[in-house]
Amino acid sequence: MSDTSRAGNETWDRRDFLKAGAAAGLGAALGGLTVPGCAGIPKTGLAPVFDYRPIERVRVGFVGVGGMGSNHVRNFLEIEGVEVRAVCDIVEDKVARIQGWVQEAGQPKPEGYSRGKTDFKRMCERDDLDLVFTATPWEWHVPVCLAAMENGKHAATEVPAAVTIDDCWKLVETSEKTRKHCVMMENCCYDRRELMVLNMVRKGLLGELLHAEAGYLHDLRSLKFSNTGEGLWRLAHSVRRNGNLYPTHGLGPVAQRMNINRGDRFDYLVSMSSPSRGLNLYAAKQFGADHPSATKAYALGDVNVSLIRTVNGLTITLVHDCSNPRPYSRIDLTQGTRGIVRGYPDQIYIEGRSPGDAWEPLEKYAAEYEHPLWKGMQARAAGKGHGGMDFIEDYRLVETLRKGDPPDMDVYDAADWSVVCELSERSVANRSRPMDFPDFTRGRWKNRAPIGIIEA
Ligand SMILES: NC(=O)c1ccc[n+]([C@@H]2O[C@H](COP(=O)([O-])OP(=O)(O)OC[C@H]3O[C@@H](n4cnc5c(N)ncnc54)[C@H](O)[C@@H]3O)[C@@H](O)[C@H]2O)c1
Repeated sequence: MSDTSRAGNETWDRRDFLKAGAAAGLGAALGGLTVPGCAGIPKTGLAPVFDYRPIERVRVGFVGVGGMGSNHVRNFLEIEGVEVRAVCDIVEDKVARIQGWVQEAGQPKPEGYSRGKTDFKRMCERDDLDLVFTATPWEWHVPVCLAAMENGKHAATEVPAAVTIDDCWKLVETSEKTRKHCVMMENCCYDRRELMVLNMVRKGLLGELLHAEAGYLHDLRSLKFSNTGEGLWRLAHSVRRNGNLYPTHGLGPVAQRMNINRGDRFDYLVSMSSPSRGLNLYAAKQFGADHPSATKAYALGDVNVSLIRTVNGLTITLVHDCSNPRPYSRIDLTQGTRGIVRGYPDQIYIEGRSPGDAWEPLEKYAAEYEHPLWKGMQARAAGKGHGGMDFIEDYRLVETLRKGDPPDMDVYDAADWSVVCELSERSVANRSRPMDFPDFTRGRWKNRAPIGIIEA
């Protein structure tokens, strides 16, 4: 069994807490240990209080502006109250491209940083940034977030936030110590179906939740062998790691529905992987049977399935399947005591409402259960990345910072949804033995309020 707990730093002494808060200039926010607009954060002396000072204009620096990073920059340039002040990428041309976009949008040319792999540190030391946003390859997420928070900036990162248990803890501890937010940008929490189902769950349509099935099932073979973009770094993970390498797209929305870290928490998982075949077969077909990519050993089993149990007894199956021919899916099934809903295709069955034993199209329920956030933002998000959900997530990040509200997804969610990476790898390597989830909230999951229904 892995040691995934951190006994040290268990509680915050009230005096240290006030002292640190005052040092961070949080005196007003800490009066009486209440923080305006911070539903979801327990108002007790034991909870770390994050920096909820509203930011009128969010000054942001981007690190990693390839496929996803440039997508976020485009969105940020269309959101009011944002200034793109700095941009960092190891490829100078990519920095120049973004500098051009920012100027075209009527903002001053952002400072460029492209002096190598750790130049983001120089960027994080600037004194005119509120937020550092990283969309780098996985191994850089944690170093960038830590540099941002340690230099007094909020951090936002693409998914997964971290790939090791230790790095998940580093994010949590640094966020608590610096009081800066560390938000993992899980865009699938803002897709139309996921938002609609969250709304249904909050309104009790499915009854008591019991079980969910989710995952990331995406044929990434051509991307993994590409000479550009993710092809430059993603395949390396398939060579050396065997588990669920990309858990958060499926798990994030399910965790929100199940109030994970807000009344329940992930307890343990077991995981197993199928044989590894798809990458060898694909490489042999594309490059020839003797090509090194065709004969290489890939550690990653083609289909990894994890089974997660929560402390309250709910169950989740989580699949990772990215090396074989198949249509895209996140499965997204939720079973409750009154009914069931699933994606791909989007269908629902509600006892007493759906015709006997037959699925109905989810669309039939849209007029009644469309999430207000989607309703309010769909026109602005139309045509933007990943069906609009990327724009909504970026908008919400900026909005919460501007209002001084807690982020929709906080550092505990980032750590909890990401830690499945190493926990699943450890379980696979140990005949599917159960692996305990760390309690990143250190007991506070019991009292934190569930996230509500957010309106645009
Ligand atoms: N949420 C989603 O739907 C989604 C979709 C695609 C990718 N992603 C995530 O986004 C991240 C980036 O993926 P991508 O597809 O944009 O990859 P990419 O390879 O296109 O972009 C990564 C960029 O980071 C730069 N980079 C690498 N190391 C760096 C460093 N040390 N400092 C600064 N820049 C550095 C690269 O030059 C590149 O421009 C990954 O974490 C990935 O998992 C998320």
